[in-house]
Amino acid sequence: MTSATPVQKFPMTADEIDRLVAAFYQRIRAHATLGPVFARAIAPDDGPEWRAHEAKIAAFWRNAVGLDRGYDGNPMRVHVENPQVMPGMFSVWLELFGQTARDVLPSETAARITALAERIGDGMRYAVTQRGQTRGVPPRLH
Ligand code: HEM
Repeated sequence: MTSATPVQKFPMTADEIDRLVAAFYQRIRAHATLGPVFARAIAPDDGPEWRAHEAKIAAFWRNAVGLDRGYDGNPMRVHVENPQVMPGMFSVWLELFGQTARDVLPSETAARITALAERIGDGMRYAVTQRGQTRGVPPRLH
């Protein structure tokens, strides 16, 4: 059973999430390594597809922080199934995320959401590293 009022992990408003997400994907679009991966998956230029992506990501973060339960996706699978997402990109993504958070949020909030992103990112990076092992080959049991 899910609770109607989830417990918030740390103080952060939906407005702060919106500001972080807008600033982060603005930097992503301009980024030499990450920009092309997103351009291909979302849209080559800023526009309505990007607003839809940012709305989905804001819902993801509101869910992750415990503000609401409006996100119902499977980010792990999305990254594993996108062959352009490589394990070495996670440190770059996380560095850019942390820098953006420090630029647009109060320092304590920036530190908390960056730590959360790092935990989620570590799990995704591991799954991406393993993707060749689990697709189309029998499991290695020992
Ligand atoms: C290597 C670093 C990363 C890259 C290159 C990357 C790239 C992408 C791209 C291109 C999409 C669009 C969907 C698609 O591929 O079809 C996406 C979606 C998404 N990303 Fe990432 N991402 C990275 C790391 C992360 C991390 C660390 C998080 C969370 C902390 C995250 C959260 C999400 C979420 C929630 C979605 C939406 C999934 C859905 O469709 O429900 N990403 N990402």
